[in-house]
Formats: sequence, structure tokens, C-alpha cells
Amino acid sequence: MSALRTAVVTGGGRGLGRAYSMLLAAAGHAVVVNDLGDGPAADVVAEIRAAGGTAVASDHDVTDFAATAGLIELAEERFGGLDVVVANAGILRDRTLASMTEAEWDDVIAVHLKGTFTVAHHAAARWRARAKAGEAVDGRLITTTSASGLYGNIGQSNYAAAKAGIAAFTLVASQELRPYGVTANCVAPSALTRLTEAPLRRFEGEITDRRREELDPHWVARVVAWLCGPDTRDVTGHVFDIRGRQVGIASGWHLQPTFTQPDDPDELGRALRAAIAAAPPAADMEGRRT
Ligand SMILES: NC(=O)c1ccc[n+]([C@@H]2O[C@H](COP(=O)([O-])OP(=O)(O)OC[C@H]3O[C@@H](n4cnc5c(N)ncnc54)[C@H](O)[C@@H]3O)[C@@H](O)[C@H]2O)c1
Repeated sequence: MSALRTAVVTGGGRGLGRAYSMLLAAAGHAVVVNDLGDGPAADVVAEIRAAGGTAVASDHDVTDFAATAGLIELAEERFGGLDVVVANAGILRDRTLASMTEAEWDDVIAVHLKGTFTVAHHAAARWRARAKAGEAVDGRLITTTSASGLYGNIGQSNYAAAKAGIAAFTLVASQELRPYGVTANCVAPSALTRLTEAPLRRFEGEITDRRREELDPHWVARVVAWLCGPDTRDVTGHVFDIRGRQVGIASGWHLQPTFTQPDDPDELGRALRAAIAAAPPAADMEGRRT
């Protein structure tokens, strides 16, 4: 029993989180499956147990700082450790910027951005304490961004802001947690779940079995399981763009050649236009076209 590594998966009751929980359990993790309410997390725990795995359900709300301390404590109390945290819980409240309500903004920022900070903070505090006590820590933090946050998407300024923030957060976490023996990586998944089923139907019409297989959450879970495995202690600070079987590394902001401001304001304008013309777009998905 003690040979099992312990994983916490937020939003683990459905979609991608369910796939992560199942695969991590199959790969030898005791899993704390976290989701809102009684139903979804308990169902996944039952599935894991039926397959011979070890899991416990949690209904802690990731937007609640104190509650997420309880979530991390639950992992340690039930399974005697904490090795993997997957911050995955998510919601959508899509609306154009001009129409978006304050609640739509706040709710999305709370679940994604704050809900990543809360679990990551409580886990980081444990990992730091263990490392300082001389224990060998081999931790993994996996966070969740989105193509929307990396490349932009109309109608999702709240979601994109949260998801871009999570990608940046992960780079800082990777630098801060490295001395404690913990990696931090971020995934930008594309998979068929209840979050994406309706938009996909609008774009593609009826979803075929072939499409369901191509966009099965399992493909993303395989990469997450690899990142949580024993061979990836050196893999940290990366953003993985995973669209079904297609995987790429999303690389972020890069400073282009700088110039010294000319004194004349007209010349400054011309120099800025020249710099803009010479620079690649801030974000694009060109490399994805394989
Ligand atoms: N499906 C995709 O193609 C896609 C694309 C980009 C990013 N993502 C991201 O992947 C993650 C998982 O999405 P999914 O597609 O599996 O969606 P999903 O709706 O199937 O699952 C998300 C789960 O999070 C849970 N959740 C919501 N608020 C919570 C809270 N406060 N505390 C605990 N749990 C909470 C929900 O109950 C739900 O079970 C999200 O962060 C989402 O933004 C998904």
C-alpha cells in the first residue's frame, strides 16, 4: 500500500479529470478524486476500485482556500503522502467583452486561476516542509491552460485571461519548486467532454465515432501520466498542447531585437512600425499544421 504514490486530481469527476484519475490509478497512484457535489467524484472512485485501484472522493471546492487545505490533508491522511497534484477543475461562462457580467468574470477567474493557486499553494507548502526536513521529495504539479489562453479566442476574455495566467503561474512554480524536488508543467488539452461537446456540434455537426475516438480524453491523460511518472524529474516548466494524438510544445513570449528610442517622435513611430513588421505574431498555431 505504502508503495503507491498519491495523486490529487481536481475536477476529477468528469471529462479530462476522470481520464487522469483512472490512468493515474492504473499506473500505481492512490487517487483523491475531487469534484463538486456527491455524484461525479464518487462514481469515478467506484470505477477505480472496481478496476482494483485505490481512490477516495473529495467534494472540496477549489475556489475555497481553507477547503483546499483540507483536500491536501485528506490525501496525506488517507494515503500517507502527496506526490502529484493535477489542477484541472474548470467551468466556462462565455460572453463577449462588451456583454460580460461581473459574475461571469469572477466565477471563471475563481475556479481556474484561484483554484489553481489554492491547491498548488497548499501542496507547495507541504513539499517545502518535507524537503527542508531532509525528505526526498519527487513531486509533480500539473496545471491546465487552454488554446484560448495561449492563442486567443473570441468570447472568452475571462477564460483566456485565467488560462494565460495559469501558464505564466506554472513557469514561476517550476522555478520555485525545483529546489524541493518538484516539477511543474502545464497542459493545453483538446478533448471531447461536456465542456466542448456543444461547440464541436456547432462547428462540425453530428460527432462521429471516429471523431469521438480522436478526441478521447485518454490521449491527454497519457501525456499527463508520463509527466507524473518516474522518468520525468528533469521535465519542468513546459506547456504541452495536446489535441487528441497530436502533441506539441507551446513556446511563449520571446523578446525580439530591441532598439534605442530616437529623439524625434516621428522617427520613434517609424521605428516602432518597423519593429512590429519584423516581429512574428504574438501568438499563432502555425506549427500545429502537421
Ligand atoms: N475539453 C477540452 O477540450 C478543453 C480544452 C481546453 C482546456 N480544457 C480545460 O480542461 C479542464 C477540464 O475540462 P473538461 O473538458 O474535462 O470539463 P468537464 O466539465 O468535463 O470537467 C470539469 C470538472 O471540474 C469540476 N469543477 C468545476 N468547478 C469546480 C470547483 N469549484 N471545485 C471542484 N471541481 C470543480 C466540474 O464539476 C467538472 O466535473 C478545465 O480546466 C478546462 O478549462 C479543456
